[in-house]
Amino acid sequence: MWPNDECILEEFNFFIKEKLGKDAIAIFIDNPILSNKDIKEIEYFLNQKGKGVPIDYILNESSFYRDSFYVDNRVLIPRPETEILVDFINNLKLKPESKIIDAGVGSGCIGISIAKYNPDLNVYGADYSYDALTVAQINKKKLRVENFYLINTNWLNSFNKKTFDLIVSNPPYISKSDPHLEDLKHEPYDALVSGTEGLENFKLITNQALEVLKDDGLLCFEHGYDQSESIKEIMMMNNFKDIRTIFDNQSLPRITLGKI
Ligand SMILES: C[S@@+](CC[C@H](N)C(=O)[O-])C[C@H]1O[C@@H](n2cnc3c(N)ncnc32)[C@H](O)[C@@H]1O
Repeated sequence: MWPNDECILEEFNFFIKEKLGKDAIAIFIDNPILSNKDIKEIEYFLNQKGKGVPIDYILNESSFYRDSFYVDNRVLIPRPETEILVDFINNLKLKPESKIIDAGVGSGCIGISIAKYNPDLNVYGADYSYDALTVAQINKKKLRVENFYLINTNWLNSFNKKTFDLIVSNPPYISKSDPHLEDLKHEPYDALVSGTEGLENFKLITNQALEVLKDDGLLCFEHGYDQSESIKEIMMMNNFKDIRTIFDNQSLPRITLGKI
């Protein structure tokens, strides 16, 4: 039952260590008698990997920023690019009591990582998916974050006018004809796909942000590496100012922000 694919082998070693607290190489060399429970765990891992399920879903765990988040197939697996967005916001040193919305909260990775390290801010995690909100609630409890509140809403529809200092969003931005979708088939479709160009959600959120942000409020988007020019244009058409883009570790434009 030993995996022979090198990539799976690496994840297998990780899984054995995390789940069984054992060293896979030692199991291989010493060939100890495994308990039925251990064998079942190993069979489960191989079965899931055989179906292409990502390791984070198999372990129900994802490392993000400075913490470990609970994940399952109701939410997108947090991505390393998103840590850059969180780090940028955490370095803004916003005024105490500032109010932030994480629009499209998913697992809660963005909102919780802001709220946890800025206990004097109030962070609202918004999603239209009850499944996503359930997972975000699990993470709020797991990471003991008090200043993080969950709201079921269609983007910014439920928020009062001119109330928020910052809106951050990593919305679904993949076009429905994108061939890469096949590689992402285990993640929730509605967390990934936005219309024919992948830009629809940016347009909706930017337009609604005009109402909900206070004067001088900031809108920050994570987006696809080839979408920054379109997003700048959307922000300009909505009269945002001081628009700029931040690059990821591979020098790709990943985050675009602007002020009203
Ligand atoms: C790309 S995922 C981002 C999840 C998480 N913020 C992250 O960065 O990993 C987008 C999220 O937006 C939510 N979403 C999609 N359409 C929405 C809408 N109309 N209103 C609110 N949330 C929406 C999805 O349910 C999903 O959780």
